[in-house]
Amino acid sequence: MAATTFIQLSLFLLLGFLGPYANAGRASCVAAERRALLSFKNGLKDPSNRLASWQTEDFCEWKYVHCNNISGHVEKLDLRNPLDYDTYEGAALGGKVNPSLMELKYLEYLDLSGNCFRGSQMPMFFGSLNQLRHLYLSDTCFGGQIPPQLGNLSNLNYLTITCLRTALELRSDDLRWISGLASLKHLNMDYVNLSQASSDDHWLLHVNKLSSLTELHLTNSLLQGSLTLSFTNLTHLSFLDLSGNLFEALVLNPFVKLDSLVTLNLNLNKFKGSIPDALANLTSLQQLDLSANGLEGPIPDIFVKMTSLHTLNLGSNINLVGGLPKSLGGLCQLKTLDLSENSMSGGISEFVDGLSRCANTSLEVLYLQNNNLTGPLPDSLGHLKSLTNIKLGRNKMHGHIPMSLGRLSRLEELEINGNSWEGAVSEAHFATLKNLKRLSIFPSSSKSLVFNVSSNWIPPFAGLELIDLSNCRVGPLFPSWIQTQRSLHQITFDNAGIKDTLPDWFTSTYANLSFLVLSNNQIRGTVPLKYNGSSSQINVFDVGHNLFSGSIPSNINETMPMLTHLDASRNMVNGAIPSSICGITSLGILILSSNQLSGSLPHCWEKLEALQILDLSNNSLSGTIPDSLGSLGSLLFLMLSRNSFYGELPSSLQNCSNLRSIDLGENNFSAELPKWIGKISPALGFYACVQIHFAAEFLKSFAIFLRFGY
Ligand SMILES: *[C@@H]1O[C@H](CO)[C@@H](O)[C@H](O)[C@H]1NC(C)=O
Ligand SMILES: *[C@@H]1O[C@H](CO)[C@@H](O)[C@H](O)[C@H]1NC(C)=O
Ligand SMILES: *[C@@H]1O[C@H](CO)[C@@H](O)[C@H](O)[C@H]1NC(C)=O
Ligand SMILES: *[C@@H]1O[C@H](CO)[C@@H](O)[C@H](O)[C@H]1NC(C)=O
Ligand SMILES: *[C@@H]1O[C@H](CO)[C@@H](O)[C@H](O)[C@H]1NC(C)=O
Ligand SMILES: *[C@@H]1O[C@H](CO)[C@@H](O)[C@H](O)[C@H]1NC(C)=O
Ligand SMILES: *[C@@H]1O[C@H](CO)[C@@H](O)[C@H](O)[C@H]1NC(C)=O
Ligand SMILES: *[C@@H]1O[C@H](CO)[C@@H](O)[C@H](O)[C@H]1NC(C)=O
Ligand SMILES: *[C@@H]1O[C@H](CO)[C@@H](O)[C@H](O)[C@H]1NC(C)=O
Ligand SMILES: *[C@@H]1O[C@H](CO)[C@@H](O)[C@H](O)[C@H]1NC(C)=O
Ligand SMILES: *[C@@H]1O[C@H](CO)[C@@H](O)[C@H](O)[C@H]1NC(C)=O
Ligand SMILES: *[C@@H]1O[C@H](CO)[C@@H](O)[C@H](O)[C@H]1NC(C)=O
Repeated sequence: MAATTFIQLSLFLLLGFLGPYANAGRASCVAAERRALLSFKNGLKDPSNRLASWQTEDFCEWKYVHCNNISGHVEKLDLRNPLDYDTYEGAALGGKVNPSLMELKYLEYLDLSGNCFRGSQMPMFFGSLNQLRHLYLSDTCFGGQIPPQLGNLSNLNYLTITCLRTALELRSDDLRWISGLASLKHLNMDYVNLSQASSDDHWLLHVNKLSSLTELHLTNSLLQGSLTLSFTNLTHLSFLDLSGNLFEALVLNPFVKLDSLVTLNLNLNKFKGSIPDALANLTSLQQLDLSANGLEGPIPDIFVKMTSLHTLNLGSNINLVGGLPKSLGGLCQLKTLDLSENSMSGGISEFVDGLSRCANTSLEVLYLQNNNLTGPLPDSLGHLKSLTNIKLGRNKMHGHIPMSLGRLSRLEELEINGNSWEGAVSEAHFATLKNLKRLSIFPSSSKSLVFNVSSNWIPPFAGLELIDLSNCRVGPLFPSWIQTQRSLHQITFDNAGIKDTLPDWFTSTYANLSFLVLSNNQIRGTVPLKYNGSSSQINVFDVGHNLFSGSIPSNINETMPMLTHLDASRNMVNGAIPSSICGITSLGILILSSNQLSGSLPHCWEKLEALQILDLSNNSLSGTIPDSLGSLGSLLFLMLSRNSFYGELPSSLQNCSNLRSIDLGENNFSAELPKWIGKISPALGFYACVQIHFAAEFLKSFAIFLRFGY
């Protein structure tokens, strides 16, 4: 007891004795830090007054300034501009970064990300802030070379210098300085121009000195040449992202120790040659992305020991051939497999059977579309209970669609179009699919697949957004179950064997539809342009080749104001073309051929500036060709044949400088082929073929083909 008191007393005396001196030292040092912060502030432009609090005596209370709570020194300056891209300009600090920051001798953390020191050189003195552990300089609009002095920051753990907004304006032509960052754990220099630095392999040697490194991000940095992953020193590296560069060769030293590597992203480069076998030794990998390269040959059977893999993306390598490697079927942790847009062949049964034997299957995303895969969809697919997205479109698969699909209760997307399916799809195929959002079946051969559901089917899902059942036998009745869907954006029933009257309720689904294709059926009723709501969002409307009658409503500009593509050809639509059609200024394609339209053309075409295709042929239209057609600078195809137009061609047509094809045959034009027709033609450009059917007396059924450029 007494002893304790004595020690406390001595400490008290000792502190009391030294106190004034210690405090004086600290005080002057602290005053210097305050002055330094104020000078720093004075150099900045601060349009949104973020640093308003920087005036009181105690700078430890200032916003964005963090002091050590014992020593009272500035430890952290966090000036990251928190706002997003759209609003960031307004809140960004700019101006000059004053070297007074060097007075902050205890600064461990500096973040200036999202502020914009437009085009100026990154200050060399950052390299003198030698206590720094964290330095974040993303999107700071610095230009020129990264000062090699940064290599003096031997305590630095985290360095981020990315330039997404001013991509590639910042460079580092020689990465030697990097090897000085002996404590570095995370390095991120996405979008920094490293083109010069990578003109030899030395940059890798410099990086290889960073033996504490766990994360390396150098995406979109113009790195080129060959990438030799022999980072003998980087035994802690777990994340490597070099996507979006220009690498051509990938070399893996078979003895390389990258045991900790969890993520390897090398997508969007120019890698050629085959996928290296040595990847097989990266047994900790969870994510491997080699997509969008030029890799060739078969995918090697390297996945036996990669049991942690959950994302494998080898898609968009058009020269990857052969079958799915055996060992893929053993990846029980796999969540995403993307081998789309390759040239893979063979079947998928072995792979799916393999996965279905896992105690727990994890596969959520299976993208194999645009390959050359054959064989059937295996029954075992129904065991992969986690599946949310299946894309197998545009392959050469065939056979029946297994009913076991109906067990995939999490399925949101089923896209298996462009294969040779046969047999029937029934209600059982959808038994538990309550989350289905996108359904595209669309067999490549017509009507070999029946969509066989009862007329009063209520599907377990109600949130379908896209449906494409083209080429399936959906009819003869119009599928009434789509009434139950609340979020439809795209409906495609092209050539679906529907022989029915379009139900009244259908038009009320238009409100939220952007895409409607009902072409090549035998659907009857009034041409369904009479949407009765206030205004629909529909862009693409194609009801061509059906049995629709009625006329084009005169308020179409108000009910379908966003149309870009209107095709009602090959029906029995009658009446005149209302001038309101010119109010749909987004219209690019207007095809109303082979109907019973009559009357003369409206005189307002100049408003349809985006119109590229106008096909009104094979109707009973009459009158003269309006001058305003000549205002359509975007027009490529003008088809007015098989009508009863008369008079002269307006010379304004000379102004349609993009015209590729004009067909005016089988009308009652009285004039001769005008001389200027030869003048518009040179504007048609190379290879353009102008086909002019001109039905004046002497030109009846006479076609002139004019070829230019050759
Ligand atoms: C001082 O700061 C450290 C970490 O910044 C914190 O853990 C500690 O609780 C603080 N001490 C006081 C007395 O505020
Ligand atoms: C900092 O780095 C530069 C260039 O790398 C070097 O010339 C200089 O001596 C270094 N300064 C200190 C204080 O280490
Ligand atoms: C990248 O830097 C090199 C030299 O370092 C330069 O020649 C090249 O033009 C730069 N590229 C871009 C896109 O800025
Ligand atoms: C490995 O890292 C250490 C420490 O940074 C360094 O001294 C050594 O040169 C490096 N070895 C290689 C082969 O780069
Ligand atoms: C994996 O590494 C071992 C040595 O650790 C090596 O003998 C073997 O060839 C490597 N495997 C592949 C496929 O490169
Ligand atoms: C797809 O397979 C067929 C034979 O079944 C072959 O002729 C064709 O070249 C293959 N296509 C691709 C892109 O591999
Ligand atoms: C299967 O997954 C569930 C949930 O993810 C987990 O609780 C269970 O332990 C797993 N079983 C096995 C055998 O891995
Ligand atoms: C359609 O389904 C019904 C009832 O489930 C069945 O009787 C009929 O055979 C099926 N038709 C086809 C073509 O599969
Ligand atoms: C259109 O979408 C709105 C908002 O999502 C929704 O309230 C409305 O019911 C939908 N209408 C139709 C016909 O699907
Ligand atoms: C549109 O027509 C449908 C079916 O005829 C009807 O149920 C709906 O109430 C009509 N909507 C409006 C806004 O008139
Ligand atoms: C639609 O067209 C008619 C006739 O041309 C016109 O009177 C009306 O103002 C137009 N409505 C809109 C919203 O443009
Ligand atoms: C013209 O339209 C009629 C129906 O209106 C159709 O029977 C005929 O085949 C069409 N002719 C051409 C050449 O398209």
